[in-house]
Amino acid sequence: MATMKADFDSVSIQRPELAASYLGLLASQPGRPLALFGPRRLGKTWFLDQDLTPAARERGWLPVYADLWLQRGAPLAAINHALEEALDDASVPAQAAGKLAKTPVTKLSALGVSVDLGAAPSRRKLPEAPELRFDALIQRLHAAAGRPILLMLDEAQALAEGSAASAEALAGSLRAVLHKRRQQVHAVLTGSSPDALAQLLATAGAPMYHFAQVLNFPALGDEFLKALAEQYGRVHKGRKPLLDDLRQLFERLGHKPALMRDVVKSMSAEGETDVQRGFAKYLADERHVAGWRALIDTLGPLERGLARAVAAGQAPLGQATRQQLGQLPGVGAAPTVGKVRAALERLRKLGVLTRSGTPQVEDPFLQAWLLGRPPV
Ligand SMILES: Nc1ncnc2c1ncn2[C@@H]1O[C@H](COP(=O)(O)OP(=O)(O)OP(=O)(O)O)[C@@H](O)[C@H]1O
Ligand SMILES: [Mg+2]
Repeated sequence: MATMKADFDSVSIQRPELAASYLGLLASQPGRPLALFGPRRLGKTWFLDQDLTPAARERGWLPVYADLWLQRGAPLAAINHALEEALDDASVPAQAAGKLAKTPVTKLSALGVSVDLGAAPSRRKLPEAPELRFDALIQRLHAAAGRPILLMLDEAQALAEGSAASAEALAGSLRAVLHKRRQQVHAVLTGSSPDALAQLLATAGAPMYHFAQVLNFPALGDEFLKALAEQYGRVHKGRKPLLDDLRQLFERLGHKPALMRDVVKSMSAEGETDVQRGFAKYLADERHVAGWRALIDTLGPLERGLARAVAAGQAPLGQATRQQLGQLPGVGAAPTVGKVRAALERLRKLGVLTRSGTPQVEDPFLQAWLLGRPPV
């Protein structure tokens, strides 16, 4: 079965036209980044890596990727780190060649004094302050690479973390540098939480708003579903699930490709072509819910009931919901708004609910599972 598994896993969709259109947009408006937003697990990081990076290279740009969540609380440090690595890569070969070429020149320096021969000319140290360092790094990297930089900032909502004042200051310096160096660098930001961005934009002064072009990152379309169905057909001598049904399920799963692939893979393992039944079986399989189950089991009755109410689309703070929660064994009386708020906060921290904005179950699969379960 291993080979079959590998084949479903290698179903992957390239989107070169989408990449080219983004690069075109960037080239047409120097200094103005693109901000691509889409829910979790939609394929944003994959796209940066598999589509945008090669497209940028093809165009003669130098792609640099930074995950701003790697250094929570210090997104600029994460950016600078990525730039420094790129600078190392760009200057190692150049410096080795440069040393050889420069040595005789040093010997014949203007005053005829032979200066320390082998020493490579040491550059001024990079500034310590992250904003200045960022600026200096862009300049040096551009000089070393000799081509425009494409700076890809993944998980850009990290920019909006921390206090409003620090987020604003950060966005301000990012903007200033990207504008000043607009002939040297283009930037793409991605994030899963438009709420966090909105929050940043809503703060007074709104440094990001006019400067980034905000776009919704598009989910994969039929080509992905067709590829999965094709793979199914290869395994099962032409039998395959209906495209319409796959489309419906994909939508229900929030267009998350890895999850979709997993469901179709398990359908294939069971020889099930009916998508509805296949998904029901998938949900019923303990192995697929083990992770969530373990998490849900650690929750108190109020949180569990609340997660389910949110999954069902009920207003968590509403009186009807609170009364209903009060009926659950172990909860006792209808909880106060304050209690429900605290429980929501815990569910957000655990990753069960979305981190900001209207509470929603983060994972559509968990959502489906919660809906199919009794309240407690
Ligand atoms: N074009 C694609 N073709 C096939 N599979 C894909 C494609 N894009 C994404 N996937 C699958 O979906 C998974 C999740 O994608 P990815 O990590 O890029 O999502 P994301 O939007 O960056 O999520 P997050 O917001 O959580 O960072 C990938 O690991 C991959 O298995
Ligand atoms: Mg990602």
